[in-house]
Amino acid sequence: MRTSLVVGNWKMNGGLATNARLLDRLVSEWRPSEGRALTVCAPYPYLGQAQAALASSAIAWGAQDVSAHAAGAFTGDVSAGMLVEFGCRYAIVGHSERRHIHRESDVEVAQKAKAALSAGITPIACVGETLAERDAGKTEAVVMRQLGAVVEALGADLAKIVLAYEPVWAIGTGRTATPAQAQEVHATLRAELTKARAPNICILYGGSVKAANAAALFAMTDVDGGLVGGASLDADEFLAIARA
Ligand code: 13P
Repeated sequence: MRTSLVVGNWKMNGGLATNARLLDRLVSEWRPSEGRALTVCAPYPYLGQAQAALASSAIAWGAQDVSAHAAGAFTGDVSAGMLVEFGCRYAIVGHSERRHIHRESDVEVAQKAKAALSAGITPIACVGETLAERDAGKTEAVVMRQLGAVVEALGADLAKIVLAYEPVWAIGTGRTATPAQAQEVHATLRAELTKARAPNICILYGGSVKAANAAALFAMTDVDGGLVGGASLDADEFLAIARA
């Protein structure tokens, strides 16, 4: 039985007052019995706020990145050990914005996943192709390369991660992958995970998920939930996606 999960990735958005309003709505309106786990990934400065607001709720919270290192001279970075002290359950690793803007390599992403797991945090490892890569017929090769680095680094611990397929051309563009396009890639990823003895990993789809398209995406056999950017900042949209 696979877990169903909806994760909000706030990216670099929010503020104390708007976060408080959003978190209040989620806590008062989300019922854990609704069949799917819910998580928000806030910017680092607001993790304490998320911890306090969500403490007595069924909603987990996570970070949007984590260092591959345990401690030391890494100015600006945050370790998994620090996050876990606040009750952090998840850390996104290898988001395309970090791969592209911060030039994170496949190996670095895999090391971040490993560091998260070693502190007891579930990494949400992201893979996905650019539009140029899709148009060149390289989607499968790209996601397999990205996943391969994680498989190699984690070994038997692979079964403890969450994977997210986020086609770069669908992120923040309003252009969602069709349910069939998402399913095709998810099935390919699932086949690879099955070979690596981790067949039941939760695979999320991300890229312009909205209340209006969530049900159709989540109905696909290998889509176990969503990694939601823009729509996770709106309580009505996010709750509707979580219930889809
Ligand atoms: P959008 O939902 O805004 O397209 O962002 C997707 C994403 O990058 C989630 O990590």
